[in-house]
Amino acid sequence: MLLRAWQPEDAAQRYEGFADELCQRYSWSLVEPFTEAHIRAAYERDEQDRLSGDALNVAIADAGKPGRVLGAMSVYDVNASEQRAAIGYWLAPWARGQGLATRSLRLLAGWTFAHLGVQRLELTCAPDNVASARVAERSGFVREGVMRSHLRFKGARRDTVLFSLLPGELTAV
Ligand SMILES: CC(C)(COP(=O)(O)OP(=O)(O)OC[C@H]1O[C@@H](n2cnc3c(N)ncnc32)[C@H](O)[C@@H]1OP(=O)(O)O)[C@@H](O)C(=O)NCCC(=O)NCCS
Repeated sequence: MLLRAWQPEDAAQRYEGFADELCQRYSWSLVEPFTEAHIRAAYERDEQDRLSGDALNVAIADAGKPGRVLGAMSVYDVNASEQRAAIGYWLAPWARGQGLATRSLRLLAGWTFAHLGVQRLELTCAPDNVASARVAERSGFVREGVMRSHLRFKGARRDTVLFSLLPGELTAV
């Protein structure tokens, strides 16, 4: 796989991958109903965030077929003065179960430490998102605990598990 910038022509695959039931359960799109128009708008927003240094959203693509979208990675909540950022990901249903999230997380986490001067990288997931927690732990993230009632989520409130990774803790790619 490779990590690359999103392109406007990725919209249909980006929508299809993220509209999947598991992504919608754990990585809420913040808009309901979620449509392909939101994905098209995301392309503009991604570029603004990248230029402002607030976030970096990239596609996980098939290295042999770069037009084939496998998932997404984001570095977000970049706080340059505190040297801190957060990282997140999703995989399309057709790309799961092959260790691609772990490999992508290690690559982007390593890049973030090397290029953004970050000294602490945070990762959060829902308490029952076992696959995501395993991806975090396999990459070297340390589970710090549960933030109770942390998020407004789908009309209710939800707990969140917090993980962190410090420079030197990333496991080898
Ligand atoms: C989280 C996600 C990226 C993981 O990718 P994946 O390719 O499915 O992960 P894998 O198949 O490599 O599984 C990772 C680990 O979780 C375990 N796992 C996967 N699904 C599981 C389940 N339902 N219950 C228990 N364990 C599970 C696997 O056995 C594996 O364990 P191991 O490290 O001990 O081998 C993917 O499930 C996804 O896109 N989910 C929806 C979006 C999402 O949750 N994003 C993260 C938000 S925090």
